[in-house]
Amino acid sequence: MSTSVPRTALADGTEIDVLGYGVYKVPPEDTAGLCSTALAAGYRLLDTAALYGNETGVGAAARAFLEGADRQDLFITSKVWNDDHGFDATLRAFDATMDRLGLDRLDLYLIHWPCAPRDLYVESWRALDRLRAEGRVRSIGVSNFQRPHLERLVTETGVVPAINQIELHPYLQQRELRAFHALHGIATQAWSPLGRGRVLDDPVIVRISEELGCTPAQVILRWHLQHGILTIPKASSRERISSNLDVFGFTLEEAHVADLDVLDRDQRFGSHPDRVG
Ligand SMILES: NC(=O)c1ccc[n+]([C@@H]2O[C@H](COP(=O)([O-])OP(=O)(O)OC[C@H]3O[C@@H](n4cnc5c(N)ncnc54)[C@H](OP(=O)(O)O)[C@@H]3O)[C@@H](O)[C@H]2O)c1
Repeated sequence: MSTSVPRTALADGTEIDVLGYGVYKVPPEDTAGLCSTALAAGYRLLDTAALYGNETGVGAAARAFLEGADRQDLFITSKVWNDDHGFDATLRAFDATMDRLGLDRLDLYLIHWPCAPRDLYVESWRALDRLRAEGRVRSIGVSNFQRPHLERLVTETGVVPAINQIELHPYLQQRELRAFHALHGIATQAWSPLGRGRVLDDPVIVRISEELGCTPAQVILRWHLQHGILTIPKASSRERISSNLDVFGFTLEEAHVADLDVLDRDQRFGSHPDRVG
């Protein structure tokens, strides 16, 4: 039986699933199969990137799914890689992504990292704005942007990203950036929501999962959802893919949320945006 994922509206009006399936490090040869498993389980948002080398598999699963569904039932995200910053290079990268996906429209296109030392992210942002104006992508956003990068985009282009996709889990709660997003109508989407699996054995999370009779991953994903944070967990087995989606039939109590809120320790499992250039 498949679960239906609630959607929420971005500031630009596009409806987006609050939880999707991320495919970073999913091997290209496994991607179509695992994405089809995720779609059969009820996921409708697939998060890929040029970097991941598996857009072709995502596209194959998407096209197979669309044989029996409307395009609006599916939400595909991809991202422009660091080597393709700049206006023209970003437009070319988008075309290559769409060729690999085999789709004529993307739902969300993100600048993967600001790469501040290259100083080209504003030009890439203008390219994304062009793609949206042309109707080739429904929503545009960024990833791993910090407050100064966001401020510069808005100052120089007047176009506010619909989303900033950032590393976010109980050990890295990003409170200041989330508050800035809220003030400017930017949705927060969490990557590595499970801390790449390394937050799952935290004693507080395990204790709450035992109290509620659910998995530690489900506790963490509920915590994101109850804070209004969109999320895209990755998993490699049918069982984990399904159970990570089965988070809409229970809620954490306020005390549970408070216990998770104090786990923040500014710990990253991925790169710091200042170190990716
Ligand atoms: N924008 C960016 O810069 C950026 C960076 C990183 C990731 N992302 C996106 O965010 C997505 C998720 O992040 P992530 O893949 O880094 O990490 P994650 O979703 O936090 O964690 C994935 C890890 O947790 C394990 N796992 C998943 N569900 C589990 C469960 N129910 N029980 C136990 N273990 C479980 C997975 O194992 P198995 O795979 O073995 O099942 C995998 O090792 C990515 O796939 C990608 O789409 C974006």
